[in-house]
Order: sequence, then structure tokens, then C-alpha cells
Amino acid sequence: MPDFDSQPALGDLDRTTDLAALELWRVTHLGRKSELMTALSGLGQVAAEERREAGQRLNAAKRELEGAYEARRSELSQQTLAGQMESERIDVTLPGRPLQRGYSHPTIAVIQEICGLFRDIGFQIIEGPEVEWEHYNFTMLNIPPEHPARDLTDTFWITDKMLLRTHTSPNQIRAMERVGQPPIRVLVPGRCYRNEATDASHESTFFQIEGLMVDDRTTMADMKGVLSYMARGLFGQQARTRFRCDYFPFVEPGAEMSVSCGQCNGTGCRMCKYTGWLEILGCGMVHPDVLRGVDIDPAKYSGWAFGLGVERIAILKYGVDDIRLFQQNDPRFLRQVG
Ligand code: FA5
Repeated sequence: MPDFDSQPALGDLDRTTDLAALELWRVTHLGRKSELMTALSGLGQVAAEERREAGQRLNAAKRELEGAYEARRSELSQQTLAGQMESERIDVTLPGRPLQRGYSHPTIAVIQEICGLFRDIGFQIIEGPEVEWEHYNFTMLNIPPEHPARDLTDTFWITDKMLLRTHTSPNQIRAMERVGQPPIRVLVPGRCYRNEATDASHESTFFQIEGLMVDDRTTMADMKGVLSYMARGLFGQQARTRFRCDYFPFVEPGAEMSVSCGQCNGTGCRMCKYTGWLEILGCGMVHPDVLRGVDIDPAKYSGWAFGLGVERIAILKYGVDDIRLFQQNDPRFLRQVG
């Protein structure tokens, strides 16, 4: 019978620094093949008069080792947990990493802004097809076949009757047909296509916004008031507007509207070609023949309409010098103006 003394084993226990080392210690000192367990299972061979005392001694040593083992295990578990918590500690007082804000494409931002201004004064926003019948794009707008006004814009034809719309004006007809009788107040944003060479102020694909109001007493004064309201909403209260005669077959009289140049405040600069004014849209009183074409009596009702170039407005608003940048979609450009 070995003279078992637990003290050296306990010394080893103090030196275990992690749970793996502790497990090794347990196997060595309390495992099935350990000295203590071997002694306990060999008690039967001990002489009967010594057996009782030897059993008590071995069991006391076993209890002592087991107690010390449990205490060390809970100590090491706590240490491990504390270490883990320390390594996962989050400093909640640190400022967060800022998220990069998203932004709207400048063309879309301008469309939304203009739609908002017109929604506030009772206009409905609608859309129309980009692939259009020549019937709507030309004929119903007082431009019959062979009319020289068809040459005012170079058209992408799809068939001899179908084309990519050259302006949003066909939606004047579509809106009047759909609504039937006045009052009508609609705004129609959308892409237009023209088969022309591009330069700093011309694209072959660009956005327009069409506006149309038809009612029993509406006049050119209303049109000027509403378009000036839009210009002030877009460019600030100091913005001034100028209307000059222009020709469009579907309006009579027709006009173009310019706004005072925001870059130079009307004194003249490169942006406004030293005129102090920038042309942004075509407009006019809806031609009586156009009203008759959709069964609206021009003796009873009058209407006015306009069509503006969205990118031209974006150019002015954001001080951009080339319209082609809007279509190229370089994020570095979009981030600057968005
Ligand atoms: C028209 O398209 C007429 N439909 C406007 C209109 C509507 C007149 C209702 C009367 C009543 P115009 O071709 O001028 O008109 O074009 C209108 C605007 O679209 C221009 O002032 C310009 O801002 C823009 N625009 C025209 N062509 C281009 C182009 N190639 N690239 C970019 N913007 C263009």
C-alpha cells in the first residue's frame, strides 16, 4: 500500500494555467489509472486490520483532490470567461463610422423637385410611352405628314408609323383623350430621343417635362404666373423670367421662356453667353385645332402647355458645363452634384 500524500499533487494543481492543463492534471491524479485510484481499487489486498484505516486515508485524499480540482476548475473557467469578455469588449463611447449617404441622380432630383412644385398647385403627374405613334408625336399636334415642321427635330423611326418620341408633347393629346372634358392639369416627365449630333448642350437622349392646363377661363397670364412660380421655386425668389415669341405648330401664340442667369445674376457670363438669360422651355396657348382634334370646344375652353428640358435645368442648378455628364454616370461627377 503506497503511503499516499496529496500535497505534491496539489502543488501541481496550482501550476495549471488553463483548462487543458487542468484536464491533464485530473487524468494523472484522479483518472482510472492514477496512483490514488489504483490504490483504492487495490484495498481488497490490504490486510484486514489495516484496511479500514487505509480506506479512510485514501478516501480523504480523494475528497481533498476532488475538492481542490473543482475549485481550480471554477477559478480557471472564470479567468477564461474574463479573458474572453476583455477581448470582445466594445467601447460604446467611440463615435460610429459614418455611413456614406446615398444620393439621387441629379436629373431625377430635378424631376422630383419640379413634380413637387406642380403637385402643390393641383397638377397630376402622369407618364406616357417612349415608343410613340407618329399620330401622337406629330399629326395630332398640328404637324400633318409632309409638314416642314417634322424636320424641326431629327427623328429615330422604328417603322413608318412608329418612332422614339422626340418630345413629351404627344402626352398633351393622350391626357386630353383620357380625361375627356376639362378641367385638365397634368405634368408628364419622361425621356425623349433626337437623332442629332451631341455637344455640350445637346444629347440624343434627354428628359423633358410637359405641362398642360385646360380650363374654361385659363389665360396666358396664368401660364406666365405658374412658370414664374416654378422658376422661383427652382432657382430662388430673386429669379426673373422672360417670355419671347417662338414658333411651335401646336400652340398659338407660342413663346420661349428664359430665366435670369444665376451664375452672373443677369450681368452676363460664359454660361449665359453674355446675355444674362438662359432659355429653359417652350410654351404657349394650345392651338384651337389641337383642342378640336380631341373634341374639346375651343370656343368654350382654352389651354396652355409647356415643355422644358430637365438636364438644361440641372446644368443651371448645379453649374455643370456639359450635358453629356448626366448620361455618362461617372460616380465621381454624380457624387459632386447629387
Ligand atoms: C419642344 O420639344 C416642344 N415640345 C416644347 C413645347 C411644349 C412647346 C408645349 C410648346 C408647348 P424644343 O424642341 O424647344 O421644344 O425642346 C424643349 C426643351 O427641351 C428645350 O428648351 C431644351 O431645354 C430641351 N432640349 C431640346 N433638345 C434637346 C437636346 N438635344 N438635348 C437636351 N435638351 C434638349
